[in-house]
Formats: sequence, structure tokens, C-alpha cells
Amino acid sequence: MTTESGPGLHLGINCPGHGSYRHAWRRPGIDPLGTADPDFYVRIARTAERGLFDAVFTADVPALTPTWEHQPQRMTLDPFLALSIAARETEFVGLVVTASSTVNHPFNLARSISTLDRISHGRAGWNVVTSYNPLVAPTYGLDGLPPKEQRYARASEFLEVVDGLWRTWAPDAIVANKQSGLYATADRVRPIDHDGEFYSVHGGGLIPPSEQGLPVIFQAGASAGGLELAATHADATFVSAVSLDVAREYRQSLDRASAAHRTPGRPGVLALPGLTVTLGSTDEEAERRRDELSDAGADDEALQMLSQRLGVPAAEIDLDAPIVLNDSIFEGQRGETSEGFLRSLKSQADEGATARDVIRRGVGHLSVIGGPKKVADLIEEWFSTGTVDGFNLMFDVIDETFDPFVDEVVPILQERGLFRKQYRGRTLREHMGLPIPTW
Ligand SMILES: Cc1cc2nc3c(=O)[nH]c(=O)nc-3n(C[C@H](O)[C@H](O)[C@H](O)COP(=O)(O)O)c2cc1C
Repeated sequence: MTTESGPGLHLGINCPGHGSYRHAWRRPGIDPLGTADPDFYVRIARTAERGLFDAVFTADVPALTPTWEHQPQRMTLDPFLALSIAARETEFVGLVVTASSTVNHPFNLARSISTLDRISHGRAGWNVVTSYNPLVAPTYGLDGLPPKEQRYARASEFLEVVDGLWRTWAPDAIVANKQSGLYATADRVRPIDHDGEFYSVHGGGLIPPSEQGLPVIFQAGASAGGLELAATHADATFVSAVSLDVAREYRQSLDRASAAHRTPGRPGVLALPGLTVTLGSTDEEAERRRDELSDAGADDEALQMLSQRLGVPAAEIDLDAPIVLNDSIFEGQRGETSEGFLRSLKSQADEGATARDVIRRGVGHLSVIGGPKKVADLIEEWFSTGTVDGFNLMFDVIDETFDPFVDEVVPILQERGLFRKQYRGRTLREHMGLPIPTW
């Protein structure tokens, strides 16, 4: 598990706007328009690279979220353009865009991701989501989002098409013989002829593969459809797991689903749970920080999220009573919300957590509130079980605590032999220990 003999722990940073604390923009020193400024993404990517992270992730819900009166939109800029600029200002760190297979066309998305992959010289990834927020539908002229099974069926076909488009130009297709005038070998350029249930694409991709061959695919769904999609197409998953038991159960389901699809050239899928970090220089300072960031408006939004996941109006939730999420509520809600988040919530309900406890922990992700050692201890505890391959980190206010994490937590992880001391290559596939695909 040490970095010199293998890739070890994998770390990414997720950027849901200024951070997971919704009123981050109101903190002193934070530019309220920061997420609309490309320098924000460049700054995060540079810090991630200084911390030897695998990648920077952008979350995405392409719809005007009605909390606009009190907070900026989470991903304010187009993620491809923002990360393309970050790519030009960094050399190693991976750049992963979340984009929906439900509301995009495969040709456009395949092209944008390949472009990011070429611009970054093999550092691009795509977090495939199917969109769960109903607000996304009217943005794209839809009456509503299709049911989850259909979204996953569409996603699977979407990924097949994208893979075909990405594989149009084999790595050795371009011979570029200036004397003979032969640019590419005919049998190494393969357009696709796809007529499926949802898409018809006849033609080919325009962009030759980057240094990593194909971009890295991430997936974030935990229902049967999500697991199947991950097993068939993904290299890594981004999952909600608030306890090691939830993570173990997920790992087993993922391994079971993947077994049929994996070959020696195609290893198992990496699992990276979300981890919300509230960091202070000591544990006490971190607790004080969490209290400070617990204002009414931000907690209200967390309560709304909880209400949506439980299917109970927010006004009916007693903050100090244990949340109720029994098997019949679970069955009723699994089609309505993310099953991964629901599973995590259920494990908290089973432990008797109150709504206030859930809100304090961040409604859906594992969270840690502590000084550098406590944060490093939790990462080590989870990673050393072999259940997870790393974490996708979220910070309450990225501009306040991401640098301290890199300065104070990363060195502890390195000293313990868990995390790399230098990048071993330049591509995202190399950081993640993934093979370069063959044609
Ligand atoms: C950690 C995590 C992050 C996610 N981020 C996004 C996102 O940024 N945009 C989005 O549309 N969906 C996002 N999703 C939703 C998933 O892609 C998926 O649509 C949802 O989890 C429902 O699928 P499931 O029931 O299979 O879990 C996320 C899910 C998880 C677990």
C-alpha cells in the first residue's frame, strides 16, 4: 500500500461552488463572485497539484437552483471551459467534469471530454450522472426526468456510443507521411454505425486519443442500475457512505456486479466515498469552526435536502427526534432519490441519529470534524480496511481550508506511507493506477 510500490491512497477534491457550506460566499475575504471567476478553478487545481491529488472534480446540476436569493449557483461557469483553463495552468492533476447522460447528446459530450483530455495531455475524466434534480428537466425542455431505470438504460447506451466515438482514431492511426500525403491508415480509423433505443449516431469522433488513451470514467449511482453501469463502463465510483458498514456493503455489491465484466486488462472499479472535512489546527478549533458555520440559512437548506430524501415535508421534521427511515419508506423513496444517499441515511436512522445530527454531519457524506491528526486517522482507518481506495474530499469553504489540508494533513498521510510523495506519471490514468486501454 506504500506509494513507491503502488498508487496507494487516491484523493480528489470535489468543488460544489465555494464549498459545502452554502454561505461560504459571506465569509470575510471570499469573493462572492469567485465561482464565476476562472482563477477560482485555477487556484483549486494548483493547490490540488501541490497536494499531489489525483484530480479536481466539478459537481453539476444544470438548472437555476431557486436558492439564488441567498447563494451563488454551485457550478457557475461551464465546467469544461473552467477546467480547460485550469489545465493550462497545471501539469499533473486530473480534471474531472460531472456531466449528465440524460440531457446531453453523446457526440457533443464525447467531443468536449476528448478536447479537455487533449488540452490537459491525458488528465481528463468524466463523472457520468443521470440527473436526479427535477429542475434540470424544464431547462432542457422536458416535462420531467425519465424514471431512474430508463435514465440508466439511456446512460448505458450513451456510454457505448461515446466509447465508439472515442475509439474512432486508433493511437497508431495517424502516420502523417508528408511525402506520400497519407495522413491516416484507413483500417485504423473506424467510424460508428449506431442505431439504438435512444440514439442514432453514424459517423466518428474527430479527435485522436490523448496520452492516456481514453478519459477516465467515474460514476456516482448506487442503485442496481447505477452499479451495473459502473461495473460495465466505469473506472471508479464516487459514492456516499457514512459508515464502514455501508461502504463494505457497497464494495461487495460493486465487486459482484463487476466480476462478469472484468478481465486482466480491466481491473476492478475503484471506490471513492465523499468525505466532508471541517479542519481546524486542533480538534477543539474544528468543532468551534463547525458551530460557526452552522447558521440558520445553511442548515435550512440541509433540512430541505433531508426532507426530500425522507419524503417528509420539512415542517414535519422534529430536529431533536430520531429520523424515521424504515424498510417501507426506503422502498418508497429509492426511485425518488439517490439510493446511495438513502442507504447512508438509513444507516444513520438505524443508529438513532436525530435530524440535527444528520444536518451537522452534512446530509449524506461521511464527515470528519477535527485537527490534522484526527482527519488523517479517519482516512487511514477507512483506507487500511481495503474497503475504499481513497476519498473525494469536500471542504466547507474551499478557499479557507483546502490549503491547510495540503500543508498539514497530506504530510501525515505521506509519513504513514499511505500517500504518494511525488506523481509517478502525468496522466490521470497513471495517478489512479489504471491501464492505458488497447484498441
Ligand atoms: C457522491 C455523489 C455525487 C453526485 N453528484 C452529482 C452531480 O454533481 N450532479 C448530478 O446530476 N448527480 C449527482 N449525483 C447523482 C447520481 O449521479 C445519481 O443520479 C443518483 O445518485 C441516483 O442514482 P442511484 O439511485 O443509483 O444512487 C451524485 C451522487 C452521489 C452519490
